[in-house]
Amino acid sequence: MRVLLLTICLLGCTTAAPDGEFIVQDSDFGDFETWQHWPIAATAPGSFHTTGPRIVYLNRKPPADATVFPVGTILVKTLENGSGDTFAMVKRGGDYNADWARGWEWLEITKTSGQWRIVWRGDTPPEGAGYAEEGVSCNLCHAMARTNDWVQSKVLKLPMQ
Ligand code: HEC
Repeated sequence: MRVLLLTICLLGCTTAAPDGEFIVQDSDFGDFETWQHWPIAATAPGSFHTTGPRIVYLNRKPPADATVFPVGTILVKTLENGSGDTFAMVKRGGDYNADWARGWEWLEITKTSGQWRIVWRGDTPPEGAGYAEEGVSCNLCHAMARTNDWVQSKVLKLPMQ
């Protein structure tokens, strides 16, 4: 029975949870550096999220008329300032994170032994991840882009051409 469940899981669990939510896995980030991406020039120092050059990656473009990003959308932002900090937001769908960036899960990922792995994930960063101050949580800052499905980058303005 366990073997059967494991086999089913290998086929299905990496793509969708039973209730239709998309549960991203380490392996989904494996090739993100080959996805469509846009460099963002360094701007005036402020939060470390927006200081120094950075690159935003998108796994797949939404349909041309979409006003929200579809479930399964993965966005990654790398800070190109030598820190190696890499953030992601994934459209998980359903009622996930319903009070804020509805449907979006926040993540930090890192490359260890040549593989991208999830450091933490959730509707907000966990305690101890360096985000104790309320003012710098992912949800609060991205609320500025609420009308664009919580996605900030100008190049990702919906509808995307
Ligand atoms: C100080 C404000 C601020 C905070 C805090 C912040 N972000 Fe962002 N984020 C931005 C801005 C602005 C962009 C647009 C790209 C850029 O200018 O860097 C962005 C872009 C992104 C992107 C690329 C998709 C998009 O929205 O354009 C991801 C992924 C991302 N952030 C993840 C996170 C995660 C995860 C957290 C929390 C750990 C977080 N962000 C916290 C401001 C912030």
